[in-house]
Amino acid sequence: MDLFDAVAGSGRASTDFAGRSVHSQSHHWCTPPQYVAAVKRVFGGEIGLDPCSNRESVVKAKCEFMLPETDGLAEEWNFPSIYVNPPYGADRARRTTIRDWFAKCVASRTEYGSQVIALVPVATNTSHWKQYVFGAADAVCFLYDTRLRFLVNGNTDNKGAPMACAMIYWGDGFTAFESVFSAFGAVVSLESLKKSSQNARQRQKAKEMFLFDFNSLKLRSRKSASGERVASAY
Ligand SMILES: C[S@@+](CC[C@H](N)C(=O)[O-])C[C@H]1O[C@@H](n2cnc3c(N)ncnc32)[C@H](O)[C@@H]1O
Repeated sequence: MDLFDAVAGSGRASTDFAGRSVHSQSHHWCTPPQYVAAVKRVFGGEIGLDPCSNRESVVKAKCEFMLPETDGLAEEWNFPSIYVNPPYGADRARRTTIRDWFAKCVASRTEYGSQVIALVPVATNTSHWKQYVFGAADAVCFLYDTRLRFLVNGNTDNKGAPMACAMIYWGDGFTAFESVFSAFGAVVSLESLKKSSQNARQRQKAKEMFLFDFNSLKLRSRKSASGERVASAY
């Protein structure tokens, strides 16, 4: 299962991507070497984890999770630097989608302080972009490639991918990310967006706590007015 969700038994891959049906014979769309080199430069020389690798990939992270032995989504991603070029289609057998890979990127950043870069299709109207990119990432590089040429079976795919792609960055090294990736696309800091969504979440939490206290107070005064025994919550 890969860039384009494999249609079981057909040997052909297909997905409805951003409203377009796309077909491909490939199951392994690997990162081209110039992007592998760029990611390594941001990370200071090496990639700690590639959680969804395959035998043809040139990413060569220190640790690689690979099917069928290791399901990358079922593992802990406790590594200082992680590069993810996930399967873009849904995996029906495991009942996962690209959203699960985004969630793991954010979890490894928040739980382990990992630096994470993900190569993904641009899909700014999806809930996973809104939640995990606009609400949690530190930067994005919208790649200039008209058609990104992935590696297929070790060779450059001449047709290239039909959709726009981006590198998403979760980490505290914006300067390094920007200096490396500005050669490949438009780099945008998401810091203020992340802060405002964190503030919005805090405001929502405070509102919920206030409503909870207010409702308990109302309940308490109703009970005491009717002469019932009141639990000493205050
Ligand atoms: C788009 S390719 C990227 C390969 C490699 N990371 C790279 O960038 O060169 C995605 C790969 O994820 C692998 N994959 C899919 N689901 C996986 C899972 N649950 N655990 C580990 N690998 C998985 C597929 O076999 C496929 O080779």
